Amino acid sequence: MLKIIPNKKNIGAEIVVSLKEVTNKDIFKIKKALNKYGMLYFKNQKLTSKFYVNFAKNFGKLANYPRLKGLNKRFPQITVVQRKSTDKGPSFGEQFHTDSIYTKKPPRFTMLFSKLVPKKGKANTEFCSQYLAYKELPNSIKKKFKSIKGKYSSEGPISITTKERVKEKGKNIKELKSSHKIIKKISTNYSIYCSPGHFVGFTSKIKNHEKLKKFLFNHQTKKKFQYSLPWEKNQLAIWDNRSMLHQATPFKGNRIMHRITIK
Ligand SMILES: [Fe+2]
Repeated sequence: MLKIIPNKKNIGAEIVVSLKEVTNKDIFKIKKALNKYGMLYFKNQKLTSKFYVNFAKNFGKLANYPRLKGLNKRFPQITVVQRKSTDKGPSFGEQFHTDSIYTKKPPRFTMLFSKLVPKKGKANTEFCSQYLAYKELPNSIKKKFKSIKGKYSSEGPISITTKERVKEKGKNIKELKSSHKIIKKISTNYSIYCSPGHFVGFTSKIKNHEKLKKFLFNHQTKKKFQYSLPWEKNQLAIWDNRSMLHQATPFKGNRIMHRITIK
């Protein structure tokens, strides 16, 4: 039996189930819950890479991360998100963002599976509901953003957090750029789809550009829209990049996560 335990204000939910035993009916429930809560996590899952990849395929076509080489030849879709105790810079993904928004068709979903984690509570991933953020936008601003797109780059502010990994496993690519509408409709809900970590400007000329940007980033990342997810070993999380921002919290130590992004 699958059990759904929503977090406060429905910012994500825990799903209690053994993923090795899920039925098609369970997958349907998981997809529905993902749409509603934006992020789901599953504790105590001992998954092989083969099972992990196959499970991810239930949610769509797997994407290859453009900036880093995959785990190995057999599993090129798994990206190793690693923090080493010798790393000097900030942790991978340490600023609110949505994954690969600088591509033409960014991945809808991201999965992380924890292989090696520091003490529980030491390296949480923070999620920020953009459904809630949209709901609380003043109507005048909702109107304003309706026709505006944001411009994003793979060399945006957050790229400094992946420098050490790019040095080791980088694909040697040129800067990737794309633009996307700031207000997004997902089934029947609206969300703010803007990644502060990759943002380089608005596409339209706007009065008080800087002020509007500051307002948007500040609003999107308010504490009241956030949930901080603690990690333990063998935990899987999946989130919808269109309705959740996420960021790594700073920590010193070793951590290995296996990531899959889904189109
Ligand atoms: Fe990320």
